[in-house]
Amino acid sequence: MKVLVTGGAGFIGSTTCSALEDGGHTPVILDSLVSGPAAFTSGRIFYQGDMADAALLRRIFDEHPDIEATLHFAARIVVSESVARPGLYYRENVVGSLALFETLLALGQRRVIFSSSASIYESPADLRVNERSPLRPLSPYARSKRMTEEMLEDLCTASQATQTPMRAIALRYFNPVGADPALRSGPYVPDPTHILGRLMAVAQGRAEHFEITGTDYATRDGTGLRDYIHVWDLALAHVAALEGFDSAFARSASDGNPEVSFLPINVGTGNGVTVRELVTAFQQVSPTPITVRDGARRAGDSAGACADTGRAQSYLGWAAQLSAAQAMEAAFAWEAVRDQKLSDADSSGRTR
Ligand SMILES: NC(=O)c1ccc[n+]([C@@H]2O[C@H](COP(=O)([O-])OP(=O)(O)OC[C@H]3O[C@@H](n4cnc5c(N)ncnc54)[C@H](O)[C@@H]3O)[C@@H](O)[C@H]2O)c1
Repeated sequence: MKVLVTGGAGFIGSTTCSALEDGGHTPVILDSLVSGPAAFTSGRIFYQGDMADAALLRRIFDEHPDIEATLHFAARIVVSESVARPGLYYRENVVGSLALFETLLALGQRRVIFSSSASIYESPADLRVNERSPLRPLSPYARSKRMTEEMLEDLCTASQATQTPMRAIALRYFNPVGADPALRSGPYVPDPTHILGRLMAVAQGRAEHFEITGTDYATRDGTGLRDYIHVWDLALAHVAALEGFDSAFARSASDGNPEVSFLPINVGTGNGVTVRELVTAFQQVSPTPITVRDGARRAGDSAGACADTGRAQSYLGWAAQLSAAQAMEAAFAWEAVRDQKLSDADSSGRTR
């Protein structure tokens, strides 16, 4: 299948492009390169531009009339930046996505897979969330993800009365870590703000110590609990959502779910790992020792949650296969080749 991939030069989008290609599909990337590197588009069909550019989208669909679905990854993703510059996040993530969806509707496109986030959930007492659990996005970034979901649901619902009804699956990612095991792409920012990035910075001597932010949460060891998903498993979840798109809605309907045109699905492992447990596992694979200090909670953080993955298993036939330890091994392997891979921008890439 040929698919439009917005944000296909990014960390998760590029990994998903590799999984799509492995599965015999053809990604057509639209990315502004505001953060993703050109190197990850190398050898792929690539249009540089903004997802809100309707004229560019029309050209892409004119040149690729056989595109059957859109995987929408493009977004600004840094939580702290979203707190400092909320307008940027609402304009880019929400207004930009609205423009994209309206163009897709005008073009008669019927399938959208949207990158949502588990950060929209409230952290519950039992630390496990399903797709009907209460929501409480705590940052402008998380709110931009939830707003985009709501907007997409309304647009899909209204389109059911038209000649070209559109449906959408929102994949609510938990905590992606690791890299493509074949090392085609991976985290490209030298010091990403997520936990593995911060641990890696200490392991490589770019930071002096790792601070555990919060040790008094109601978890088994007091540190925050997360559901770390290997980015390759996450990429394969997109392939499963694409290939099983129509049947997911059929299964949801036969379950009596009211969601006829918009289906949120958690993508996690279902296993919660505490920050302290992850740090211990990291210390076991790190070639250099890590200094760890306990620190205070960060504003806006919660005890966390892990995924109830029942829907992903029953509607998509997908379940995570890889462990957090395998994600860390892939992350180390990627670090060793990252600079060389990023400078490998192949001028033969079909950039438009
Ligand atoms: N990384 C995570 O931990 C995480 C967790 C949950 C959800 N997500 C979601 O997954 C998606 C991908 O995240 P990622 O980690 O790969 O981020 P990323 O920053 O690596 O990728 C995003 C890509 O979108 C592109 N982009 C941004 N704005 C654009 C625009 N207006 N038009 C065209 N391209 C644009 C960027 O250049 C970048 O290549 C995002 O939607 C993010 O919200 C990520």
